[in-house]
Amino acid sequence: DPVAKIAAVGGSRHPGIPLPKDLFEPSRGNSEGLDFSDRAELGRVARVVSGGDKAFEAKPAVTSAGEQWSDCGIEAKAMVSRALAAFPTWDARSIEDRAGCLDRLADLLEQERDTLMRICVQEAKKTIPDALAEVREAVDFCRYYAQQARTGLQPIELPGPTGERNVLRMNGRGVWVCIAPWNFPLAIFLGQVAAALVTGNAVVAKPAPQTPEIAAFAVGLAHGVGIPEDVLILAPGGPDLGAALVEDSRIAGIAFTGSTATAKRIARALLDDEERPIVPLIAETGGINAMIVDSTALPEQVVVDVVTSAFRSAGQRCSALRLLLLQEEIAERTLEMLAGAMDTLIVGDPALPSTDVGPVIDQGAYERLMGHREAMRGRWLKTIAAPDNGLFVPPTLIRVDQIEDVRKEWFGPLLHVATWKSGELAATVERVNRSGFGLTMGLHSRIARAAETVEEVATVGNLYVNRSMIGAIVGSQPFGGEGLSGTGPKAGGPHYLPRFCAERVTSTDT
Ligand code: SER
Repeated sequence: DPVAKIAAVGGSRHPGIPLPKDLFEPSRGNSEGLDFSDRAELGRVARVVSGGDKAFEAKPAVTSAGEQWSDCGIEAKAMVSRALAAFPTWDARSIEDRAGCLDRLADLLEQERDTLMRICVQEAKKTIPDALAEVREAVDFCRYYAQQARTGLQPIELPGPTGERNVLRMNGRGVWVCIAPWNFPLAIFLGQVAAALVTGNAVVAKPAPQTPEIAAFAVGLAHGVGIPEDVLILAPGGPDLGAALVEDSRIAGIAFTGSTATAKRIARALLDDEERPIVPLIAETGGINAMIVDSTALPEQVVVDVVTSAFRSAGQRCSALRLLLLQEEIAERTLEMLAGAMDTLIVGDPALPSTDVGPVIDQGAYERLMGHREAMRGRWLKTIAAPDNGLFVPPTLIRVDQIEDVRKEWFGPLLHVATWKSGELAATVERVNRSGFGLTMGLHSRIARAAETVEEVATVGNLYVNRSMIGAIVGSQPFGGEGLSGTGPKAGGPHYLPRFCAERVTSTDT
C-alpha cells in the first residue's frame, strides 16, 4: 500500500514525548502540511508535483560555469562589491527587523509549498515525501534562526569589577559566501543563507549547478519579504564561480556544504594569501556512516531503520547509512529479513506516490555508483530490480570483509555490510572512528550499557540509538560532524549563529 509506505517514511519516531513549551517547535509532524493518510490530498499533490499527469522528465543540469558566465572572476567580484556596499545598512537594521524577514519568508515558503515541492521533484529528483520534508526543513531553519537571533544576539551587559561598563555585542562580519549542495537544494541552501542574513551579513549564495531553479525561486521569495536584492545575491554557476568567490579576499566568511575534498580546497584558498584576513569557514561534508547492530536488537525495527537510512532519498543524504555492522550471531537472520524488505522497495519515477527510491542526481553520480557496484559484483548479498531507462541505481547490499575495506563515501543506495564479534563493541566503534570521518552513527541494542559505550567512544556529530539515522530535525537534532566530516558548528543548533558574527566588547569607564 503506497500510502501506508509513505506514512512510514521519515524514520522511526518516539511518539508521545511532548516538546517543552519554551523550545522551538519544528513544523514537521505538527504543521498543517500534507496528511499522507489522506489519499485525495496525496493524489492532488502528486498531480501538482508531476506538473499534470505527464511522465517524469529530468531537466538538463548546468554542467559548467562556462555555460553561464563568460568570466567568473569578473562576475564574482561584481557580486561581492554589490553585497559589500549593501552590508552596513543591513547590519544596522534591528535584530527584530531581520528576524521578521525570516519569519515572513517561512510563511511564504509554506504558502508556496506545492510549487517548491514540484521544483524539488523535477529538478533534484526528490520523491514526494522527501520534497515535503525539504520544504518543512527550510521553513524550520528560517523560523529557528529567527528565534535564535531574537534571544541570542542581543547585546549582553557583563560585570564591571573595576567599575567600568562592559557590553558585548554581536555584529555581522560582512559578506558571506554560501555554497550549497544539490541534495538539500532548498533546506541547506536557505539554512545557510538565513543564518548569515539574520546575523547582519550580506550574502552571495551559490547553489549547486544541478539545482539552480529551486534556489532562484527561494531567493525571489526572500526578496519579496523585504530582504534587499543586494543583501542577498544569487550566484548560479559551477565550481569556477565558486572558486572565484572564495578567492575574493574581501569576503568575511564561507558556509559550505559538499565534499571533504572541496572543503579542503576552500580552506587552502583562504590561507593562501598572506595579506588576507583570517575568516571563518563552516564546512559540512560527508561520512562513512556506520550502524552497529547487536544480538539484542529488535530485528523488525532494525530492518525498517536500515532500509530508511540506506535507501531513502536514494542514499543521497550525507547522514545516510553506508556500512552496516552486524554482530556475527544475528547476521544471517538479519540479512535474510533485510533482503525481504528490499524486495518491497519500488525504484522509479520520483513524482509517483508509490516510489520509494528515485534516480540519482546526474550521469556522473550514476556512473561512479554503477562502476563501484559492478566492481563488487562478486560480493552482492542482495540487489533489486530498477528501471534501466534513467539514472536508477538499484539498491544493493555489498559484503565486505572488514570495516577498513570501505574507504570512501559512496553517495547512493549502496550499502556495505560486515560483521563484528561479541565482546568487541568498543573496538568496533574505534575502528569506525579511524576512518577519520565523524558524521552519523547508528546503534541498535536493547542493552543500556551498549549505548553508553558507543556514546563514550564514537567520535561522531550525530548518534542515533534504536532508530533511523537520517532526517535530523531543526532545533531538536542539531546536525553536523567532526574530523573529515566538517568543522561545526551544527546547523539547526544553538551555537550556529554566533559563528557568523563579529563579537565586539565595549568597555567604558563610568
Ligand atoms: N540533515 C540531513 C539528515 O539528517 C543531512 O543529510 O538527513
